[in-house]
Amino acid sequence: MKKDFLAVSDYSPEELNELIDLATDLKTEYFKHGNPPLLKGKVLAMLFSKPSLRTRVSFDMAMRHLGGDALFISPNEIGLGKRESIADIARVLSGYVQGIMARVFEHDHVLQLAKWSTVPVINGLSDYNHPCQAMADILTIKENFGKLPGLNVTFIGDGNNVAVSLMHVCAKLGLNFSIANPEGYGIDESAVELAREFASSSGSQIKCYRDPHEAVVGADVIYTDTWTSMGQEEETQKREEIFPPYQVNQALLSEANPDAIVLHCLPAHRGQEITDEVADGPHSRLFPQAHNRLHAQKAIVLRLMQG
Ligand code: CP
Ligand code: NVA
Repeated sequence: MKKDFLAVSDYSPEELNELIDLATDLKTEYFKHGNPPLLKGKVLAMLFSKPSLRTRVSFDMAMRHLGGDALFISPNEIGLGKRESIADIARVLSGYVQGIMARVFEHDHVLQLAKWSTVPVINGLSDYNHPCQAMADILTIKENFGKLPGLNVTFIGDGNNVAVSLMHVCAKLGLNFSIANPEGYGIDESAVELAREFASSSGSQIKCYRDPHEAVVGADVIYTDTWTSMGQEEETQKREEIFPPYQVNQALLSEANPDAIVLHCLPAHRGQEITDEVADGPHSRLFPQAHNRLHAQKAIVLRLMQG
């Protein structure tokens, strides 16, 4: 196992499958009689440069369930790269805690934290990717279908951080990944190229569409996310004009496979990228997916911090 968890693309398919299996075991164990205190005495520092509900609470609870503790550090407190350098923060924290989870703007900030810390660093979302989310997504897909390779995952909307990690985990594990996005809002080309490399080993297919209706044909999973990610707030109005044809609604859902499930990393902007009817309908797995952040991240902190 690597020291850090910064991107699913850093991990082999075997390692990713092992993490998913561990998450499944930890989840079963937790609901039977609780998890043993395997991280007793270990503390995870959680650095946030952006807001969070799921990431903050699920990491905190994951640590507590495993007998450890978590420390929330708000943007105002440390001023990542502003009050002091990231290299200094990483080296100081390495003497206090046994792991660092960071939610940042620039992806380079988690890379720098990892470079300078002697303790594991976990990426809790950057402008480039969101690997912990992708692990919870895959866990949810596996629980629903009982398998992974060969499933068709379709992302509708902005080719953002969540789309990058989802595409990479699909390409690694043999799921086909399609995206439909407006012109100019596709996934970063180099990330798509990387996915195609992984796909050539796993046998999966990566496809990019403009038309959401074309993209959802044969979909087992329809995935969407906000049109405007954190840090892009000044583009909100423009995006709200461009993205409405990419709404996941009942009409679009009815064009996918009859047993398709709908995922969304949340927070949802109901009435924009997803309708209430779909978010609260029988195909939605939004809340089990959010809950799976806890179980997927337990596997991650355990593998990295058990030591
Ligand atoms: N999905 C997700 O990461 O949610 P938060 O922004 O609330 O952490
Ligand atoms: N793409 C979203 C995900 C939030 C969890 C954002 O970066 O704001």
